Amino acid sequence: MNIHLKRHSNLPVHEQICQYFIDRISSKIMKDGERLPSVRQLSKELGVSLVTVQKAYQQLQQRGYVESFQGKGIFVKSTHLKEDIDDTHTNWHMVIPDYVPRAQSLSISQPLRNIRYHLGTACINGNLLHTEWIKKVTMQVIEQHPQLLGQYSSANGDMEFRKAVSDYLRTKQLSVAPEHILAVSGAQQGIELVAKTFIGPNDVVFMEAPTYPGSIDIFKSRGAQIIPIPVEHDGIDTKMLVKLCDQYHPKLLYINPTFQNPTGTTLSVKKRKELVDIAESYHFLILEDDPWSELYFKEKPPAPIKSFDTSGHVIYLKGFSKFLSPACRIGALVTEGPLLEKLIAAKSISDLGSPLLTQKIIAGLLQSKELNNVLQNLRTDLKNRGKQCIQLLHQHSSQLTFRAPNGGNTIWVKLPQHVHADLLLEYCHMKQLSFLPGSACFPTHVPNQYIRISYAGLPQEELKQAIEILCEMVNTLSSAHKYYPIESYPSF
Ligand SMILES: Cc1ncc(COP(=O)(O)O)c(C=O)c1O
Repeated sequence: MNIHLKRHSNLPVHEQICQYFIDRISSKIMKDGERLPSVRQLSKELGVSLVTVQKAYQQLQQRGYVESFQGKGIFVKSTHLKEDIDDTHTNWHMVIPDYVPRAQSLSISQPLRNIRYHLGTACINGNLLHTEWIKKVTMQVIEQHPQLLGQYSSANGDMEFRKAVSDYLRTKQLSVAPEHILAVSGAQQGIELVAKTFIGPNDVVFMEAPTYPGSIDIFKSRGAQIIPIPVEHDGIDTKMLVKLCDQYHPKLLYINPTFQNPTGTTLSVKKRKELVDIAESYHFLILEDDPWSELYFKEKPPAPIKSFDTSGHVIYLKGFSKFLSPACRIGALVTEGPLLEKLIAAKSISDLGSPLLTQKIIAGLLQSKELNNVLQNLRTDLKNRGKQCIQLLHQHSSQLTFRAPNGGNTIWVKLPQHVHADLLLEYCHMKQLSFLPGSACFPTHVPNQYIRISYAGLPQEELKQAIEILCEMVNTLSSAHKYYPIESYPSF
C-alpha cells in the first residue's frame, strides 16, 4: 500500500487511512469484493498502531464502504449495497474510473509549496549549466533558420538533429546511421513510447531494483508484471537475471547502466556483454536508458550496451536534459527495422513529432566546438559538488551509509535503523527541505530505509545548509526513537 501519511497534518492518521481507501473504492481502483489488508499487516506496513488501523476500518464500515466477515477479513462492499454511503465526503471526480495506478514521479516532481531546499529532483542547477553558450547557439539557430519558427518537424525528427546525434554517438563508440534515430521529447517520452509500443497487460518487464521512479510509473500503467532484479556494486545481478529468465519469460529489460539512478552504480563491460548474450538467448528486448554517461568524475564509463549488440536486441535511449538543456527536453531513441517503424508510428500518434526549434538547438549544441570544454567544466563542477556533499554528510552525521559517487548527480543513502524515510521527509518538510524517499524507486513494496539526494540542483551555499538540516533531522529522529513510540514523535 503506497499510503503517504502526514503525521503532522490536522487530519488524524486513521482518517487519512480511511480517506485513502474511500478514494480508491470510489474511483473503482479497488473493486467490489476486494479484500483489504489485515489490520496487523497494514499496521506493520505503515508503522502505525493496530488501534489506528482498526479505527480507520471501523469508520469505513460505518460509512458503508466495506463489510467485515468474521474470520475472513474486511472486503469492499458491493456497489448495490452502498446506499448508506455518506457522499458529502466524496468528490464526484473520484467516481470517474481512471487508468493511472501510480504516479509517484508526479508527486516527486510537483513543486512543493514552502520548500526551499530541493534535494529530491535529479536536475542540474542553472548556475552549473552554461546558459550563455546555450543562449548563443539558440540565437544562431533562429538567425540562420528563421523559417523554422513556422514549421513542424517530421514524426521521426529533423535530419540535421539526427545527423548531429549520429556524429555525437560515434564519440561514445556507438556507430548508428541517422536513419536509425528517432527524436523524442525527453528520455521520459522515449521510455513511454517503447512501453506503449511493446508492452501490454501481463507482459513481463524486468527492472533494476531500485530504479528510476518515472520508468516504474510507465510500465505499471501498461499493466505489466514487473520483476525487480537487485543492483550490485557493478550493476544489475546478471546471475539472478538468468535464473528469473528461466522462471518468467521477460519481454523487456529496462536498464540504466551508467551512473544508475538512484544508486550511481555503473555496469561493468563484462556484464554489458553478458546482458546482450542473455537477451539473445531468451529473446527479449533491452531498453538502455543513458542520460548520465557524460557526467563522469574519474575514468570515462564503458561504451553503451548497444555497442556490443549485433542482433538488434537493444534499444538505446539518449537523453540530453542532464548535460545540455532540460528546457529543450529532447532525447533520441536508437533502433532499427520494424522496431523503429513501430516506434515512429507510436510517436506520430503521441504528438506527430517533437518541436523543431528545440531539436535544432540541441543539434547546434552537439555540433558546437565548445561542447568538449563545456562538458569538462560541468564534470569538474559536479565532482566538486559531490565531494562537498560527501564531506558534509560525514561531518554532520555518523549514522548514514552511502558510497561516494563516480558520476551523475545523486547519492543513495541508507538511513539508520528505525528512521523511516517517510517520517524523515515530513520532518524535513517542516524545515523547508525535500528529498526522494527510496520507496519511490522500487516497483514493489520495501521497507523505506533509503533516500536519494541530488547534490546538483542547489547553489553551493544552500547545499551546505540543506545537508546540515537533513543530518540534524536524521540524528534527532534516530535518538527520538529510543524515547517515543512512532506516532508521538516530538514536533519542532
Ligand atoms: C534514468 C532517467 N531516465 C530518464 C529521465 C528523464 O529525462 P528527460 O528529462 O530527458 O525526460 C531521467 C530524469 O531524471 C532519468 O534519471
